[in-house]
Amino acid sequence: EIAFYQDRFIEVDEPVIPIQERGHQFGDGIYEVIRVYNGVPFTMREHMERMEESAGLIRMELPYPAQEIERLALEALRRSDILEAEIYIQITRGIHIRQHHFPEPAASALSIIIKDARIVPEDKRMSGVDVITRDDVRWKLCYVKSLNLLPNVMAKQEAVEAGAQEALFVDNNVVKEGSSSNVFIVKDGIVKTHPATKGILHGITRRVVIDTAREAGIPLEETRFTTEELHEADEAFLTSTTMELLSIRQVDHHLLSESRLVTDRLFAAFQEKKEKE
Ligand code: PDD
Repeated sequence: EIAFYQDRFIEVDEPVIPIQERGHQFGDGIYEVIRVYNGVPFTMREHMERMEESAGLIRMELPYPAQEIERLALEALRRSDILEAEIYIQITRGIHIRQHHFPEPAASALSIIIKDARIVPEDKRMSGVDVITRDDVRWKLCYVKSLNLLPNVMAKQEAVEAGAQEALFVDNNVVKEGSSSNVFIVKDGIVKTHPATKGILHGITRRVVIDTAREAGIPLEETRFTTEELHEADEAFLTSTTMELLSIRQVDHHLLSESRLVTDRLFAAFQEKKEKE
């Protein structure tokens, strides 16, 4: 493991964050999580683009050009010697005496952490995972990959306490996304996932799966679906950088159909994409 803060490489447990860092006082910042397969970051460009977009949406200037942040992340990865890694990049609005409005002059702060990837155990991948549903109490700009994750933390904790893997946010009976993943269903051969509105995170894995489906000629609709449609789905799965595609077995103690046909096809195509990068 290795880390970077502001302008230097450090040990992950080195205490470096000043007490008045806006990241922990306000959650005033953004982040990215990138998966590294065999030493090579997957969809790095897409993550860098989303990082720039998130920063722009909260009117925060990056401390370095995106290209330089990418270079620093790759340098950290090289120094870590980890082949199956996760890159965590966080940018906050920096250090300033506590006030709500933006510090002047702007001086945002970069952190990078390289650590071992959390790999989904094979038995879970085979069996599929259980999820619960929770009311989506988050703000209306969930497409910003913001550090403000309290509702996500609370929902995930409830999932863990229920022996489940993930909590799905439901808004007016519409299934939106997980606390740290996107969600798809398959019904009568058609794959469905919530449209990329301001109300969900535009997951990079979600985008890869959509492209994969199009390339494979599997019908896919970016359309809303309800809790009932999820219960009655032929298949359902989660997507994220760390979970990849993960089949859902049970929703709120309601067992889903055991079919995996389309999920397995998409997962196999996803594996091929990984190998090509
Ligand atoms: N979570 N939705 C939410 C709310 C997320 O936090 C994430 C990612 C996703 C999936 O996005 P992607 O495919 O780009 O990873 C969807 C990351 C992994 C995390 O917070 O650790």
